[in-house]
Amino acid sequence: MSSGLAWEGGRHPGWPVRLGPLRVDAGVVALRPPKLFDASTWSRIRLRDRAYLENWEPTAIDGWHERNAPLSWPAQWSSLRSLARRGQALPFVITVDGDLAGQITVGNIVRGSLRSAWVGYWVAADRAGGGVATAALALVVDHCFGEAGLHRLEATARPENAASLRVLTKAGFREEGLFLRYLDVAGDWRDHMCFAMTSEEASPEGLVRRLVAQGYARTA
Ligand SMILES: CC(C)(COP(=O)(O)OP(=O)(O)OC[C@H]1O[C@@H](n2cnc3c(N)ncnc32)[C@H](O)[C@@H]1OP(=O)(O)O)[C@@H](O)C(=O)NCCC(=O)NCCS
Repeated sequence: MSSGLAWEGGRHPGWPVRLGPLRVDAGVVALRPPKLFDASTWSRIRLRDRAYLENWEPTAIDGWHERNAPLSWPAQWSSLRSLARRGQALPFVITVDGDLAGQITVGNIVRGSLRSAWVGYWVAADRAGGGVATAALALVVDHCFGEAGLHRLEATARPENAASLRVLTKAGFREEGLFLRYLDVAGDWRDHMCFAMTSEEASPEGLVRRLVAQGYARTA
């Protein structure tokens, strides 16, 4: 078992990194750090997909348009980059066939004897239903329990979010309970189901190999 001590006083393990590729029905999925020039594509998708995304994401205090306009990206990108440099997050852009198609972020990384974090994601509506989120999650989980040296990952989803619950179940996350009035989403405090996985549950083969063996993905 990793001691996790390699991180102490050193550089954040597992960052920066590119993960994948992995082929699914929607195309070839890969993960990379966000870039400043992602602004226009990111904003175009987020403004177009407002109705599909807004019910599941934290309430945007400034309003959806302001929070997702191209000009709001540099501040979000810079914040993600500095969290990653401080070892507090692993923020990825999801690409499908080379095009930006979503984000997956490992946040609130705590080291020491906890070595835990949460993971959150979204996928563009025109790429949904083709295995993208499941592939991205598998790549991230294997990286977190490998090079990044974490032991536990948590993910929460509203009970009504059938697609996200299915992603977590397919990936092998275990349901732990219901958090009442957990997160301010779409303008109110929403209950969330909590799922988790520890490194023991992903080993020995890892989630990517498991997905491939189950026929959900192919190595690209
Ligand atoms: C949740 C989300 C990330 C899933 O992305 P995706 O790339 O479509 O996910 P996948 O294709 O890997 O898996 C989706 C699964 O949910 C299933 N699904 C989709 N909509 C569903 C619904 N309304 N009811 C039941 N199952 C549903 C799909 O059939 C698929 O399962 P299958 O492979 O067994 O057929 C995407 O829908 C999204 O971004 N939603 C808006 C934001 C969001 O909810 N983020 C997560 C917050 S917790």
